[in-house]
Amino acid sequence: MSLPLFVAAVLATVLATAFLYIQYAYSFWKRLGVPFQKPSFPFGNFAASFLSKKSLGEDLRVIYESTTEPVIGMYTIFKPTLLIRDPKLIQHILVKDFQHFINRGFHTNTDVDPLGDNILMQDGDKWRNARTKMSPTFTSGKLKSMFETVVKCGKTLENYLDRLAVSQKEIEVRDVFARFATNAIASIAFGIEIDCLENPDHDFRKYGKKFFDPTLKNILRFNIGILSPTISKLFGLRFADKDIGEFMTETVRKNLKYREESGVVRKDLFQLLMQLRNTGNVQEDGDWSTKTNRDKQMSVEEMTAHAYLIFIGGFESSSTTMSFCAYELARNPEVQQKAYEDIVDTLAKHDGQLTYESLNDMKYLEQCIEETLRVHPPFEAGGRQCTKDYTLPDTNIVIKKGMTVMYSVIGLHYDPKYYTDPTKFIPERHDKAEIAGKNFVEMPKLAFGDGPRNCLGLRLGKMQVKIAIVMLLQTLKFELADQHVGKELKMNPRSSVRAAVSGINLKLKKR
Ligand code: HEM
Repeated sequence: MSLPLFVAAVLATVLATAFLYIQYAYSFWKRLGVPFQKPSFPFGNFAASFLSKKSLGEDLRVIYESTTEPVIGMYTIFKPTLLIRDPKLIQHILVKDFQHFINRGFHTNTDVDPLGDNILMQDGDKWRNARTKMSPTFTSGKLKSMFETVVKCGKTLENYLDRLAVSQKEIEVRDVFARFATNAIASIAFGIEIDCLENPDHDFRKYGKKFFDPTLKNILRFNIGILSPTISKLFGLRFADKDIGEFMTETVRKNLKYREESGVVRKDLFQLLMQLRNTGNVQEDGDWSTKTNRDKQMSVEEMTAHAYLIFIGGFESSSTTMSFCAYELARNPEVQQKAYEDIVDTLAKHDGQLTYESLNDMKYLEQCIEETLRVHPPFEAGGRQCTKDYTLPDTNIVIKKGMTVMYSVIGLHYDPKYYTDPTKFIPERHDKAEIAGKNFVEMPKLAFGDGPRNCLGLRLGKMQVKIAIVMLLQTLKFELADQHVGKELKMNPRSSVRAAVSGINLKLKKR
């Protein structure tokens, strides 16, 4: 056989084998008899998110809305993945049968990327151990201790926006809220008082922003990290850039040295992480001591990884919620007025004092936050990795160990089956009387996830959002900037957290 003929034969064999492999890989769900979305080479069902044309959340929402089946098979590149649509099955996976779905299954290479060794990314026993130890960090007692810190940061925000309201016609509030939330979480998590409102270039803001900026690198890191941990591993994608890791480790080291040498005790998360490092446990409410005779139970790197996750978890999702809440209040003036009256009336009942108790007494405000999280959940999709073979209830579908299952938060939150007029912002749908007797299956809410691996900072997140809204609404009125009037917000397909392409621009009027 001549050389060109030989090369052509080899090429033809390789192409035919590749073709057969792809055909076989893409027939997984058909062979199992499970309804599926037709994939296309090479990205399976996620071409739009791999190419940054849609956010991963939007990609999943389209698949969610394409069918009424309880589950639907998909492919991330060649890997079979299952979208769970039925809330009853989602509840099984997240709550009732959680022992089969403990992992998120994200890739981390902790040798080169120590910040990746955090509770969000950890799996199996390592995660279980960290979660058990960190849960007491967010009790009511501990939150109460952090309340004043957030209010103090809220006062700085109030003064800052008060001034801008006089001097500027329109303000992009997402960035302002992110700077406020960075101040709050830097104080709560690290015990460090900063002012990113006046100094937007502060390192804390710079490195926090860098993690979430919708750059191509970040979107690839995020989408590939979730959709294909194998590729993430292949390309050595990191959880956070090296310079972020170095800055955070240095900050933790310095802070630790200062507190250990000075004996200063602050009622914040850093103190609780020090307890964890020194004693292996977070102590009872009211006990902030860190003294022990034991060897250190946690390295500085581990402490940094957890502190960093609390930091990024604490500012981005909370500030996203604050800005969408302000936007919806501006778009719905009658809702804003009702929220304002709820705040004023509740404060009057509590001697005019904004306290942990009076904040929790603001029932309509709570409904506004719930509705904001329904319409604009910061994380539009969620999922788990199967850790033990599992037969989906009432079906003969077996989910094999290692497979990823996903759910579409915005698919469910915008499904008219569960929420009538889903695009409308109606806080009253979360009224206690309205939801009496309704369970998760009739009214799925997934902004914080669910089950033993739900959001650890749920109550702190809500507290931060409420404090910001209460402090601002008392003196200011939110109005839409001209560019948003009569238009729907267009979401940024490159952002890992729900965000409007235009930002959120509001006019702030003094009351
Ligand atoms: C409005 C604000 C927030 C929202 C909407 C939010 C949302 C979420 C969601 C959807 C998850 C995944 C849950 C799941 O997979 O079931 C999560 C996990 C997590 N969040 Fe939040 N979060 C918020 C604020 C916070 C704050 C303030 C903190 C910390 C101070 C925090 C810390 C965490 C941690 C540590 C995890 C990982 C939990 C684990 O894997 O065990 N979050 N969050």
